[in-house]
Amino acid sequence: MLKLGVNIDHVATLRQARGGTEPQPMIAAHEAIHGGADSITIHLREDRRHIQDHDLKSIQKSIRVPLNLEMAFVPEMTQIALRQRPEKVCLVPERRQEVTTEGGLNACAIERALQKALSQFRRRNIQVSLFVDPDPKQILTAAHVQAAAVEIHTGAYAHAKGAKRKKELLRIRQAARLAATLGLQVHAGHGLDYKNVQAIVKIPEISELNIGHAIVSRAVVTGMRQAVKDMKRLMRR
Ligand code: PXP
Repeated sequence: MLKLGVNIDHVATLRQARGGTEPQPMIAAHEAIHGGADSITIHLREDRRHIQDHDLKSIQKSIRVPLNLEMAFVPEMTQIALRQRPEKVCLVPERRQEVTTEGGLNACAIERALQKALSQFRRRNIQVSLFVDPDPKQILTAAHVQAAAVEIHTGAYAHAKGAKRKKELLRIRQAARLAATLGLQVHAGHGLDYKNVQAIVKIPEISELNIGHAIVSRAVVTGMRQAVKDMKRLMRR
């Protein structure tokens, strides 16, 4: 069965906009689980722009599905992950100025460092996936360093149109096939929404999707009617 990891970062983005406590990512995590989320994903960024350290602790303590911690491959985050021991981590590249993760990890360039860190993660029973572009070189490296999974970056596919989109879809299909052949679990994510997800769902090697922005965006809109009704009820004299 194709599993869904729901990324709740942007619930925290909304909270950080006012610097208060609402909306609470932990409540969103539980709502996502009630809706069928198989895992919860959070990205603890170095700049802490949305998810905070206390979210990691409180969400990890309160959910009964696996927590997938997205993180930059830097010493600070590695220490946090080794200490907190989420079920899974997904290593992503991170740049301070980016709006969101813009490309896959260049695993080939940091192969030796990955090898060392991944053995530390394995010793703590943390499953590691590498977020990589659908590029055979990156997939081969993920297998070399004994990652449990690759998460194939679907951003280029999601943002392309027409023939370019077809080409990107083919790259994802080929990368998924190669990764599965090498014994890697195949995940995919980034930029997936209610329209473009269907072609990805058809790729049989993919066992998990991680989706955030589209789900949080839909939740805001589909919940608006009730939120306004609740306020109007309180305003009745
Ligand atoms: N997977 C990874 C590795 C990501 O970095 C992100 C964005 O945080 C996602 C999935 C989810 O992307 P989106 O919010 O576009 O669904």
